[in-house]
Amino acid sequence: MGHFTLDLKHLDIDSSGLILEIGSENGGGSTEKLYRYAESKDMDFITVDFNPEVTEKLPKYVNSYNCTGQDFLKAILPEMGCQVSFAYLDNFDYIFPGMQGFVVDRQQRRYGKLGVALDNEASAQCHLEQAFLCHTYRTPVFYMLIDDTYRRTIDGDYRGKGSRVVPWALEQGYEVVESALVGCPPWDGYVLLKIGGV
Ligand SMILES: C[S@@+](CC[C@H](N)C(=O)[O-])C[C@H]1O[C@@H](n2cnc3c(N)ncnc32)[C@H](O)[C@@H]1O
Repeated sequence: MGHFTLDLKHLDIDSSGLILEIGSENGGGSTEKLYRYAESKDMDFITVDFNPEVTEKLPKYVNSYNCTGQDFLKAILPEMGCQVSFAYLDNFDYIFPGMQGFVVDRQQRRYGKLGVALDNEASAQCHLEQAFLCHTYRTPVFYMLIDDTYRRTIDGDYRGKGSRVVPWALEQGYEVVESALVGCPPWDGYVLLKIGGV
């Protein structure tokens, strides 16, 4: 989505769980928007990013963790004894077709400093691992929003960060609530998945 534009108000998000963001805001405004939504529903909100330069810039009132989303889901969340009712997965960056130059170079430098090489297969796999772990710790009604995921035709394959998550999720019984159809640059898009409830 680039900027977080989804309106959460019409979703029946289970307020007994927490709102989790993996990939904190970096100019896009997603963290603040999710924090405000959680606050309005009296829900807990956690944002996770593995880049300390990103987490250090977050407002102090936001509950944040500086680690990978996978580590958070494997080691920290189970200790908290919480369930996740809405997960926004927007992390390991994906290099869209035709994307090159300054933006990709800057991303590569940022990830390189943290010992990670940008790679689209690794991005899709990382989001799949996180989706699987969120699914394990979900509330009965659970939403998962994956950013930078798109199809080029109405019946085409999903591409981008969620290219592995969506086929897996459909096998588990998730439905696609909303998704973007994008046929030209700037490649972007998102997919909103839901399991449980009506
Ligand atoms: C596209 S940005 C997030 C943008 C933000 N959601 C917004 O809309 O403003 C991706 C972020 O994911 C972080 N990241 C990449 N891989 C990660 C991982 N495995 N776990 C946690 N954070 C990760 C990067 O450090 C970067 O800050």
